[in-house]
Amino acid sequence: MAPLHAIFRPLSEHGRAETRNRGRGFKLLPRLCRRLRSHLLQEMKRWESGEGVRFLQRVGLREGMTVVDFGARVGHYALPAARAVGRDGRVYAVDKDAEALRHLTRKARRSGLPNIVCMHTSGDTRLDLDAGSVDAVLCYDVLHILPEPDRARLYAEIVRLLKTNGCFSVYPKHLEGDSPANHFRDLTPNALLAEIEAAGLRFLGTTCGRLSHDKSLTRGCVLNFKTDSRIDTGKTQG
Ligand SMILES: C[S@@+](CC[C@H](N)C(=O)[O-])C[C@H]1O[C@@H](n2cnc3c(N)ncnc32)[C@H](O)[C@@H]1O
Repeated sequence: MAPLHAIFRPLSEHGRAETRNRGRGFKLLPRLCRRLRSHLLQEMKRWESGEGVRFLQRVGLREGMTVVDFGARVGHYALPAARAVGRDGRVYAVDKDAEALRHLTRKARRSGLPNIVCMHTSGDTRLDLDAGSVDAVLCYDVLHILPEPDRARLYAEIVRLLKTNGCFSVYPKHLEGDSPANHFRDLTPNALLAEIEAAGLRFLGTTCGRLSHDKSLTRGCVLNFKTDSRIDTGKTQG
């Protein structure tokens, strides 16, 4: 029988090698994280300055339009929207998170986009804007955070704000089958579509492609609606 030290030597050597590798792994990990972070930051910069602009143009944003980005956070959509509507247009970036809006303000200044107006709210869905004064409302990755009565109030506010034939565009994240979360846990895409149409917004179709979610790009579709002219909102053509 082999002496005990001969049996245990390979094991302890193996252990030392593993510790050495683990040490290297610990050094590599922060470097990999830094690289990934810088890659994602570059990707988001490209999105905000080009790819996102083209995506929002496909949704229908045009030069000179007035747009509300409801739940804008740090501006992954407000910034490209501001480029799409140009210096004669305006983007109201609405959020209840003051810190996120400060971040967005700094980014807008650095990007030379004076046509973004940040609107900090208490979370109330009523906005201090005139009826029939808005061409498009973006509501991207936000609706799941609102309980059903708040969503109903938000749809009513959007109908009030939009011009006739104005566009309401929704990125419906976290519905049933798509990492369900918050108030969308048991809601199907069809049920969401029905609740928006019941509020007087007619479904037009989808715009699909690579788009921003959280801090990176992913594939997905937004749902586009327009104010339903069959429903009398007491507005004239804007
Ligand atoms: C998941 S983030 C989406 C941000 C952005 N739309 C995007 O897609 O990159 C949701 C944002 O909605 C905001 N939000 C949630 N409920 C809100 C409310 N009632 N009024 C204003 N902002 C709200 C949050 O503060 C947060 O910044």
